[in-house]
Amino acid sequence: MIEFSTQTKKKLEECLTHYPTRQAALLPTLWLAQEEFGTVTLEVMEYVAGLLDISPAHVYSVATFYTMFHLKPVGKYHLQVCRTLSCALMGGERILDHLKKRLGIEEGEVTPNGKFSLCAVECLASCGTAPAMMINEKYYENLDVQKVEKILDELK
Ligand code: FES
Repeated sequence: MIEFSTQTKKKLEECLTHYPTRQAALLPTLWLAQEEFGTVTLEVMEYVAGLLDISPAHVYSVATFYTMFHLKPVGKYHLQVCRTLSCALMGGERILDHLKKRLGIEEGEVTPNGKFSLCAVECLASCGTAPAMMINEKYYENLDVQKVEKILDELK
């Protein structure tokens, strides 16, 4: 059975002080769970449900709605390419297609060496500098194929 580390339990207790009910802290608790376990599996969702006294089905509905929660393992570098309007108009689809070819994977897949995973996501709130993508927590903006190549070459 899984369990948060002592450090994460302390973070959760502190986090809960900012919310009117335990149930209201679902999103930050899912973040903590992802930080702790790497992926938000069904087992993790059940654990979070127990912590917050809500149904596993509710946790599942939230965890599967947001693309930022990893329901299965991702690569060392997790690439999230925006597919929403501004980015689409500015060539986001070209960027995504290029990444698929370059990495040899489709959306939702991880390269065999575990280095890269790829997904398309909705607006990253960087519409003014479209097309945009995130790699892990970092933003990359005003992309074109040449820039993407340079970025990938620099990732060790
Ligand atoms: S549409 Fe791509 S960042 Fe908003």
